[in-house]
Amino acid sequence: MTEWINVAPETSLAKGEHLLITLNESSVAVFNIEGKFYSIEDMCSHDGTEIASGIIKDEEIICPRHGARFCLKTGAVKCAPAYEAIAAFPTRVVDGWIQIQDHR
Ligand code: FES
Repeated sequence: MTEWINVAPETSLAKGEHLLITLNESSVAVFNIEGKFYSIEDMCSHDGTEIASGIIKDEEIICPRHGARFCLKTGAVKCAPAYEAIAAFPTRVVDGWIQIQDHR
């Protein structure tokens, strides 16, 4: 079973904000969307650039570069010009800590 990794105190991530962490040499963006937490690899599958600064809408993130959309829960691509999913990580809060699993 994949272990849960403490990434940050829950209090360090306000609603509507995100933080960037390094997880096994990947940049991962952790989001607090109205008290729900999501984590995705911070790399758009279209052109390999960061995606964390994109606009969030209905549990989807819109790439700031060319507008591809991805599901924050699953990483599934929802809109061209990207055609491949990005990595999404199970995320939870336990005892005041945001925890994620790296299942890759
Ligand atoms: S780099 Fe994200 S849509 Fe092009």
